[in-house]
Amino acid sequence: MRPCFVANWKMYKTCGEAEDYLQSLSLQPALRGFDREIVLAPPFTALSSVRARIESTAPGIVLAAQNLHFAPEGAYTGEVSARMLREVGCRYVMVGHSERRVHLGESDSQIRLKVAAAGDAGLIPILCVGETLQQRQMGEGAAVVQRQIEAALGSTWESEMLVAYEPVWAIGANRTPSPTEIVAMHRRIRACFATSAPIRILYGGSVTPENIADLMGGGEVDGVLVGGQSLSAENFATIIERGMKAYGHP
Ligand code: PGA
Repeated sequence: MRPCFVANWKMYKTCGEAEDYLQSLSLQPALRGFDREIVLAPPFTALSSVRARIESTAPGIVLAAQNLHFAPEGAYTGEVSARMLREVGCRYVMVGHSERRVHLGESDSQIRLKVAAAGDAGLIPILCVGETLQQRQMGEGAAVVQRQIEAALGSTWESEMLVAYEPVWAIGANRTPSPTEIVAMHRRIRACFATSAPIRILYGGSVTPENIADLMGGGEVDGVLVGGQSLSAENFATIIERGMKAYGHP
């Protein structure tokens, strides 16, 4: 499968800062080649300027939004629809990131509606799932992740989708599960999609240039969703380069 590297900028970078970043990213040798997919997920406000910039300087990069609303349009102050995201050039949209589940109370039923809305509008959802530390300590990690997937999908999912396994306790925390634990969880996740087309499963949570080779070397990790370390173009490029080598693409 074609590995995928997603930069989740969260609530960082103005349009001006995004331009500087793209200038620097376009100079990185890791950007050349089409054997992997590079996805930038800037804040809503920077989507248009990032799109204009990647069209001229880095055509291999594609855009993701970090969130969407489930309604096609309506009286939802402050929200953004799937159609609006398509219009500004998004190919992907992240759904169910734990920072939204935990801090903004996003529920499984909202996530299910968002996944469906993304699919209906022709956006590919990047469904984020992962257990909390407490759930992990109680041995419930795999069950929680399976339940999150089932709740998000509803019936059988037939369109393209990416799943990002992001243990909540690993995000921004400088610690990760062991590569063996990640492989085991990715296999569990893959089994949830046994009847649909093969899907790419990413890992996210404290990915760095130092640990990427271990994380992607196990054969089950089809890419990564990178937060903090993706804010530096150099670090993100190093993650792509080392990740590709570990995945078996020298
Ligand atoms: P992190 O964030 O790489 O800073 O841990 C990952 C994420 O939240 O997607």
